[in-house]
Amino acid sequence: MIGRLNHVAIVAPDLAQATATYRASLGAEVSEPLDLPDHGVTTVFVNLPNTKIELLHPLGEDSPIAKFLEKNPAGGIHHVCYEVEDIIAARDKLEADGMRVLGDGEPRTGAHGKPVLFLHPKDFVGTLVELEQV
Ligand code: CO
Repeated sequence: MIGRLNHVAIVAPDLAQATATYRASLGAEVSEPLDLPDHGVTTVFVNLPNTKIELLHPLGEDSPIAKFLEKNPAGGIHHVCYEVEDIIAARDKLEADGMRVLGDGEPRTGAHGKPVLFLHPKDFVGTLVELEQV
């Protein structure tokens, strides 16, 4: 059901430093920081030949990643995002299998303007999973 790995999201306590690490030390193609107020994050996209890394930093008061950074002050992997062709069909199959979809279960518009859902880490080997319809 799942397709390509769309991105791995990494929370960075210092976005400028993380950007420099990927751009200068790892030699990756890195975007300018982009504020996404609806998502409570500032993000930098790192384009790799086969996938993307998204460097995330909290934006605003109620950022969904603020708590993660409190627990992981050095930063760390926040979620992985897999592509699906039909997000509703994917959700219905997973729910039928007893997997937990976060929130109200309805897809939201993600950072790339496409429908996304998040799945409970306890059902997926301790990893927060995002599904994105492509
Ligand atoms: Co994501």
